[in-house]
Amino acid sequence: MHKPVRKAVFPVAGLGTRFLPATKAIPKEMLAVVDRPLIQYAVDEAREAGIEQMIFVTGRGKTAIVEHFDMAYELETTMAARGKGMEVLEATRAVPGDIITVRQQVPMGLGHAIWCARAIVGDEPFAIFLPDELMIAHKGGTGCMKQMVEAYGEVGGNLISVLEVPEEEVSSYGVIAPGRQVSDSLTEVTGLVEKPPRAEAPSNKIISGRYILQPEVMRVLEGQEKGAGGEIQLTDAMARMIGTQPFHAVTFAGRRYDCGSKLGFVEATLALALAREDMGDEVRVMAERLLSGER
Ligand code: UTP
Repeated sequence: MHKPVRKAVFPVAGLGTRFLPATKAIPKEMLAVVDRPLIQYAVDEAREAGIEQMIFVTGRGKTAIVEHFDMAYELETTMAARGKGMEVLEATRAVPGDIITVRQQVPMGLGHAIWCARAIVGDEPFAIFLPDELMIAHKGGTGCMKQMVEAYGEVGGNLISVLEVPEEEVSSYGVIAPGRQVSDSLTEVTGLVEKPPRAEAPSNKIISGRYILQPEVMRVLEGQEKGAGGEIQLTDAMARMIGTQPFHAVTFAGRRYDCGSKLGFVEATLALALAREDMGDEVRVMAERLLSGER
């Protein structure tokens, strides 16, 4: 039996420079795709996977993220008096005590952000969500982390979610060296490299924002040097764990949108609006009209 994954770390202390000026005063994780902020999609995905404790690694200017999961007394009183809309608010409110925050203080990289949560993670396996990577399940399917937790039940150890990209894009991402194929969606990982030059990339499978890691990664991060971009890289720490513990990659059956980039965000907004039962038909008509050049 593998120890269950009950905790998740959400690193949300990054500066979001690719999305300026929108992210000057508002955290990137609070940008809304249709009507839900990115952080809520990630927390909902965690809850679906059975995760109970959410650990936000925050920084200056990020308090709106925590408030989003708080009780909004004025709003709730007003909506209750009107007798409508309460479900929307209730769906966001956290169970008291299940959201914990730690501060990163200086954004020194994803690896450093994860290390900041070490005391709360303790000696348990834990999940990581990068909320700007929006993972949407196929209709009727399960979310990315739920698929990963199921795979974890089989193989234990460490898991990352991956997806394939065109070769010319690999140098923007963390890339895996794939080993034995365990099943259609599960592959052993024999190596990891952060932002490799295209010619040196071991595959076109990139790490895509969801992880299940063993607590030993914290000790590796502890003494780690800066890597690509002068930041403390999670990928480098994970690479050092390979060979000491099982390491697998799960290919997510679903769609991923890179909402840290403007184009990815626009694509996500359009895709999710088109898929919505309450507005999809109207959005389709609107998009067709815009594409045809009509006003
Ligand atoms: P990104 O690479 O997307 O960085 O970080 P960023 O700073 O948010 O955005 P850009 O590149 O400047 O536009 C991936 C994830 O890691 C978190 C970010 O908040 C994001 O969820 N992160 C990154 C931290 O929490 N701390 C860091 O020091 C760096």
